[in-house]
Amino acid sequence: MAENQTDKNLYTAFVGEAKAALRLKGYAEKADKEGYPQMAKLFRAISAAEEIHALKHLRLLKIIQTTEENLQASFESESSVSENVYPEFIRIAEEEGNTGARISFSHARDAEDFHGKLYKAAIADMIREQDSELHVCTVCGYVASGSMPDTCPVCNAAKERFKTID
Ligand code: FE2
Ligand code: FE2
Ligand code: FE2
Repeated sequence: MAENQTDKNLYTAFVGEAKAALRLKGYAEKADKEGYPQMAKLFRAISAAEEIHALKHLRLLKIIQTTEENLQASFESESSVSENVYPEFIRIAEEEGNTGARISFSHARDAEDFHGKLYKAAIADMIREQDSELHVCTVCGYVASGSMPDTCPVCNAAKERFKTID
């Protein structure tokens, strides 16, 4: 994908802006907790701006293909992280006694596995696209299709912790 220096720079800038956008969301959360609502607002506003930069760079990279290709690429990426990346990270976190990281990695691995299944089903359903509610667990990132589960099958969070996507 990176054929020339500008493509490489676009990719570097995309990754940097995307990371900044998320980091600033974390800073906003912290500012809210510390009782600085205006600082939280500032972080959220600049996070939204960095997201715009990241998306503009991404579009120029032509990583975005047809929806069918994007579903396939997303499916492959989920399988690869849940099968190859997270198991090793979990093993090392266990070895190093980092419980927080172990749980965070485990939740992500289990959730990615379900994400992969949703993509697989979506690829099969593309011709007869059906309307279905999607709910995201805000604790672990599990995604439920259809009705809202009573508790999250990955992290046990109660249904109140789910967010329905519009
Ligand atoms: Fe930026
Ligand atoms: Fe995922
Ligand atoms: Fe969950």
